[in-house]
Amino acid sequence: MTPKVLYVCSEVFPLLKTGGLADVSAALPPALVALGVDVRLLLPAFPSVVAGVTLEGPTLQLPAGGSPGLPAGVGPQAHSAHGLAPWLREGRITDSDMPVWLLHAPGLYERAGNPYLDGSGQPWPDSAEQFAWLGWAAALLGTGLNASWIPDVVHGHDWHTGLAFAYLRELAHGADHRPATVFTVHNLAYQGVFDAQLRDLLGLPDGLFHLQGLEFHGQISFMKAGLKYSDAITTVSPTYAREITGAEQGCGLDGVLRQRQAHLHGILNGVDDAVWNPQDDPLVQPGFDADHRRGKALAKARLQQRLGLEPGAGKLLFAVVSRLIEQKGLHLLPGVVEELVERGGQLVVLGSGDAAIEQALRECAQRYPDQVALTLGYDEPLAHHIIAGADVILLPSRFEPCGLTQLYGLRYGTLPLVRAVGGLADTVVDCSLENLADGSASGFVFQAFEERELRSALRRAFALRRRPAEWRAVQRHAMGLRFGWERAATEYLRVYASVMPIEERS
Ligand code: ADP
Ligand code: GLC
Repeated sequence: MTPKVLYVCSEVFPLLKTGGLADVSAALPPALVALGVDVRLLLPAFPSVVAGVTLEGPTLQLPAGGSPGLPAGVGPQAHSAHGLAPWLREGRITDSDMPVWLLHAPGLYERAGNPYLDGSGQPWPDSAEQFAWLGWAAALLGTGLNASWIPDVVHGHDWHTGLAFAYLRELAHGADHRPATVFTVHNLAYQGVFDAQLRDLLGLPDGLFHLQGLEFHGQISFMKAGLKYSDAITTVSPTYAREITGAEQGCGLDGVLRQRQAHLHGILNGVDDAVWNPQDDPLVQPGFDADHRRGKALAKARLQQRLGLEPGAGKLLFAVVSRLIEQKGLHLLPGVVEELVERGGQLVVLGSGDAAIEQALRECAQRYPDQVALTLGYDEPLAHHIIAGADVILLPSRFEPCGLTQLYGLRYGTLPLVRAVGGLADTVVDCSLENLADGSASGFVFQAFEERELRSALRRAFALRRRPAEWRAVQRHAMGLRFGWERAATEYLRVYASVMPIEERS
């Protein structure tokens, strides 16, 4: 089977990244291509994305909702304030050669920085329009706007693409071609919920705006549109796929997900070997592997020096590389720093986000300047340096759809200390006595979201460190684990096949 897949998303590494979504958008499409899938990306033309794309092919005008030949009242309306006349440009991501459509819409995407939030951390006021147009472009390409390449599958990622599925439902009635559709949830907590007054502007008729449609407590939910109107739903780990059908992690949409359970699949993310590989990571030299660990010891010494920490191979070095937000459970961390330092540990944190979490961590760093280092901001080379040089990577998440940094940690022999939730539960095995005995242990896992539990997981890390041979054995096992994208791509292909009409599958 060689389906044509339109892969719709809002960010892609290294051009534009706010989190793991960008890593996935960079790695999954090439893995699909390697399996013979004909993939094209569709992204908004944010400035850093445009800068990383080599254009080729003609410009394709995008008709607004209600244009001749299209159903009345469906699709975003040409907006006088922006004077919108959007268009698509075809090209290739310069570094990877991946084919891509860029969606241009005057006034909507030409802004630097975070694609979702303005300088003060508030959602852009025209966020709904930004991503309605993305969904509309996907729906039009899906129904044959570009006659020379019509996708068999439209595969959208997160709420930013949710309206594609609603528009496709409306367009499909009169269209010659209706693609199969797959919607991937990377994080159910971000839903794209907007005022119902935008219905006319976004072109969402009564047939879509009701309880069994995309209406959510009287508002418009892009996420719910994706969940209701896609043929299949995937999310990024098997455990998270189960968790989101329950009230605790369902973010108010667990009922919808239960209804669609037969079409909900959990597919674990992978590690992009081209970016995260300790043997030939250009940002971490000299490289290392399970048999040659000198490079890791050097990375640790350099990290301590770079961040102004007391030098010493014997200091157990814990690390956080993360958005500093409620989801990641990092408000549990300040409460255990004193014990961590008293036991002879050190802590490095790289990230930014919630002001209260930043402030609490700042106070820790001020209190223990030789043992705790905080770097606020986003820094790709430093992230590699930390994941290579640390001994333990911390993810005490409240919820975690998949999580990628624990996978990077495993690969670099930096043992993950995680809460047993979502993808963390699927990827890390605790250093309990029985797991040590059978060689399956790869990190430290705690259950309840409580400081007490985090504290005892930290103690297990210190205890294992006092048995260097066992530490090395766990490290060796962790470094040998492979969470490849080929496996994940094969599973996505199976999902595509399950939603494509039978005659198109062979
Ligand atoms: P999420 O997508 O929820 O933020 P993931 O673990 O899936 O979490 O992915 C986070 C990605 O972002 C990883 O590639 C991680 O290395 C990177 N990252 C997070 N914070 C920073 C930061 N401050 N600087 C550099 N990279 C970061
Ligand atoms: C989201 C999730 C994270 C996941 C990433 C990529 O940002 O928070 O757990 O790894 O998407 O799928």
